[in-house]
Amino acid sequence: MTSNGSNSNEPFVSVGPSADAPGPAPAEQDLEAKWRSVVGRRSFLKGMGLAGAAALPGSALFASEAMARSAALTKGDVAILRFLAAAELIESDLWQQYNELGGVNGGNPAYMAALSNLDSDMPQYIADNTDDELSHAAFLNAYLRSKGAQPVNLDEFRTLPSSKATGAKQIGRLTNLQSLDVDTSWYVRYRSTQNPDLGAHFPQAVTISREPAIPLSDTDTPPGLPAPVPPVGTQETRMQAIANTAGFHFAFIEQGGSSLYSIMALKATSLEVLRIIVSIGGVETNHFSLWHDKAGNAVAQPLAGVTDPETGVTFPDLNAKGGELNQTNLILPEPCEFLHRSLPDCSIVRPTLDSSGGAVAAIDGFTADRLFEGQSPKFFRTVRHLAREADAAERRLH
Ligand SMILES: [Fe+2]
Ligand SMILES: [Fe+2]
Repeated sequence: MTSNGSNSNEPFVSVGPSADAPGPAPAEQDLEAKWRSVVGRRSFLKGMGLAGAAALPGSALFASEAMARSAALTKGDVAILRFLAAAELIESDLWQQYNELGGVNGGNPAYMAALSNLDSDMPQYIADNTDDELSHAAFLNAYLRSKGAQPVNLDEFRTLPSSKATGAKQIGRLTNLQSLDVDTSWYVRYRSTQNPDLGAHFPQAVTISREPAIPLSDTDTPPGLPAPVPPVGTQETRMQAIANTAGFHFAFIEQGGSSLYSIMALKATSLEVLRIIVSIGGVETNHFSLWHDKAGNAVAQPLAGVTDPETGVTFPDLNAKGGELNQTNLILPEPCEFLHRSLPDCSIVRPTLDSSGGAVAAIDGFTADRLFEGQSPKFFRTVRHLAREADAAERRLH
C-alpha cells in the first residue's frame, strides 16, 4: 500500500550532493559540518607531512581516518546501510514509545500489568529490545561516518503526537502506535509449508484494525487498573486488547526485520558490510522468535477471547479453531518450500526476495500498518527514496 502521496519523479535526499535534492535537516547539517571539519583537518595533515601530523593531539582522529581509508564503500553498500539506519531509527522510535509505557522501568502500571499477562517478563524484554534497536541505529550511522558516508537523520520528522497516558514523554514521534492495522499473516506464514517467494499468500490470524498498541489516555485506561485474567470490566478489557495488539505488533515488526536483513545481505559487496548485516539480522530474528511466542499467549487459554469494547477487535482462542496453522505453541518456523518446489522443504526465514520483504516492501508494510499515520509527504519521499536506493544495490564481485 502506498497511500502516501509520494511521486517517484520528485527529488529526494541523496547519498551525495545533488543539485535538486532538498537540503539536509539542521541536525544532519551539524553532523555533516562536524564530518567536513574532520575531512578538512585530514587535508591539512596531508599537507603538513607525517612529522607535523604526529605532533598533533587526537588519536581518535587518526583511528577514524585509518578506517575511512581502509576501503571505500560502494554506492550500493552505502545505500543498504543508509536504509537500514533509517529502518533502525524508525524501530527505535516505536520501541521507545513501548518502553516508556511498558518497559521494565515503564511509567504505566496498568499497561505493564496487561502486557505481563502475555508473559511476566514482557517489561524486561521490551526494555532489552529497545536497547538493541538504539544500538543498531547508532552503530550503522557511526559506521557510515567512519567510511566518509552520510549518516541518516530523521529528526525533522519527529512531529507525531505522543500518547497522553501516564508514563509517555510529551515529545515528537516518528511513528504512530495509536491506531494500527496490524498485519498478522506472519503467524500463518511461519506455520505454513508454503513460501511467499513462490507466490503464496496467507490470511490474517487475527484481524486487528484501527486498534491502539499503547494506552491513549488515563480517561480511556486509568494507570491504576488491575489486570485480571481474563479481564473483567470495560476499561480492563480495553487495556488487555491494547496489550494484545502490542504483542502481535512486536512480532510483525521483527519478522519484517528478519526478512529485510536477509535480503540486504544478498546485495552487499564488502565482506565487512555483509558481516554487519548478518550480525544485526540474526538479532532481528532472535527478537521475532521471542515475540512470536508471546503473541500466541494472547490467543490461547486462559487469556483468549478478549474483545476491545471500543473497536470490536477480538483475540479468539486460535487453538480452539484446530489445525497446525493456528496452534499457538508452534512458534518455530515450519519447514517450507524454498528456491524450487522440486527441492525438499527447509526451515528458513521467509520471504527473502525484494518483492515481498525488501526495503520498499518494508516501508509499504509499515505504511499499511498505519505506523506513519500523520507523517508529511516529505517523510514518505525521504524514506521511499532511501528504500529504492537500497533495493537497487547489487553485489559487485571483482
Ligand atoms: Fe534493529
Ligand atoms: Fe528489531
